[in-house]
Amino acid sequence: MKLCMIGTGYVGLVSGVCFSDLGNDVICVDKDLDKINNLKQCIIPIYEPGLEELVLKNFKNNRLKFTTNLKEAILKSDIIFICVGTPTKKNSSAADLTQVYDVAKEISRSIAKFKIIITKSTVPVTTGDEIEKIISKKISKKLFSVVSNPEFLREGEAIRDFIYPDRVVIGTSNKRSNKILKNLYSPLISKGAKYINTSRRAAELIKYASNAFLATKITFINELSNLCEKINVNIEDISIGMGLDKRIGSRFLRAGPAYGGSCFPKDTKAIVSTSDKFKTNLSVIKSVIKSNDNRSSLLLKRTFEILNNKIKNKKICFLGVTFKANTDDMRDSSSLSMIPSLHKKGAKINYFDPTGEKNDFKKLKNVTFSNNIKSAISNSDLIIIHTEWNDFKSINFNKLVKNKNYKIFDMRNIYSAKKMSEQKIKYFAIGS
Ligand code: UGA
Repeated sequence: MKLCMIGTGYVGLVSGVCFSDLGNDVICVDKDLDKINNLKQCIIPIYEPGLEELVLKNFKNNRLKFTTNLKEAILKSDIIFICVGTPTKKNSSAADLTQVYDVAKEISRSIAKFKIIITKSTVPVTTGDEIEKIISKKISKKLFSVVSNPEFLREGEAIRDFIYPDRVVIGTSNKRSNKILKNLYSPLISKGAKYINTSRRAAELIKYASNAFLATKITFINELSNLCEKINVNIEDISIGMGLDKRIGSRFLRAGPAYGGSCFPKDTKAIVSTSDKFKTNLSVIKSVIKSNDNRSSLLLKRTFEILNNKIKNKKICFLGVTFKANTDDMRDSSSLSMIPSLHKKGAKINYFDPTGEKNDFKKLKNVTFSNNIKSAISNSDLIIIHTEWNDFKSINFNKLVKNKNYKIFDMRNIYSAKKMSEQKIKYFAIGS
């Protein structure tokens, strides 16, 4: 099939590349000329395991193309995926849909035969209705169908999530579009993905509800971990004990720093904004947002306690600064508030991240980047394991750290407290 992905951010690029790998002809469009020129040389703008190889393979066999020419890409394609950003509006918690509606206007100027127009960007309920209105001002409704097909890709696991999704959600009442899309996704359905055809509005809401629920699950376990710390119970035991109940499930039940990234913080706010617009109260999600906003200060307080409130001139090393492992994404990472706060209190921060130095900390005088684990931790008073990269899972701390009295604060509960104590390491974890 002939597809075009409008927007080569995370969603558009990964989905476009994977669709081309499944045998489709895909044009990825972006207005950022540098990005497109780089992609034509297989230079990938994001860190995502496996993506570069797939771009290279499908670009070489000519199934994957990159362009800035939106009009031409639309004309050449039967299925158009809108994958542009829907960031939080300035001074509001609602999603900013400017880019989505701009694309809809451009599409309305470029349709000559039947096209399926799909929102893959995360868009609030009724956005599809709005897009349909915009396009139908210029084009007969017989010539297009607007469908919602949300994505459920996790950064760092995006290729696997694309190829082996739990479900494919298609929001449309148009039978022709449904048939075509079921065919498009048939290679994934035959591998076990459930195919769900529902209304467009329901599909739009499924995406927000899923992200808000996962954020709630994480926040629930994070709050319980605070209780565990007071009562000498290990949160890991609670997660295992709860997660084995199939109604609850063990995934997304790992306590840690505040959830971050480009999705949960933005989408929880946007769904609350939608519910406010329709005069309902999503009080649970409101509490989740508040609790998560407060989490970094709670973990900072714990860090101060671990250092007996003597922060000035303490050498603190962060292992990992991105919002989670296997990504270079810093958006809404808790390190963005924790490092400056510790720096302000006089700590000397050193950090290592497998994805390299971050611009976010370059202006802070006493925050430095080390390009390997050994040099990052060797002089530390406190090592904070902030992300759960495999690289951090079997470090021989006693061999590498010179300082005799160092402490470890493991915010991802990677290590066993028992083994750490056997090695006489002063080890602190989340929820124990
Ligand atoms: C999330 C969803 O998981 C995807 O299904 C969705 O498609 C995506 O948002 C999106 O809307 O585009 P992502 O933000 O890439 O994916 O990352 P997650 O793996 O979900 O992690 C989000 C945050 O939750 C991270 O800060 C992570 O460290 C934290 N987390 C996750 C926990 O603290 N505990 C857990 O058990 C799981």
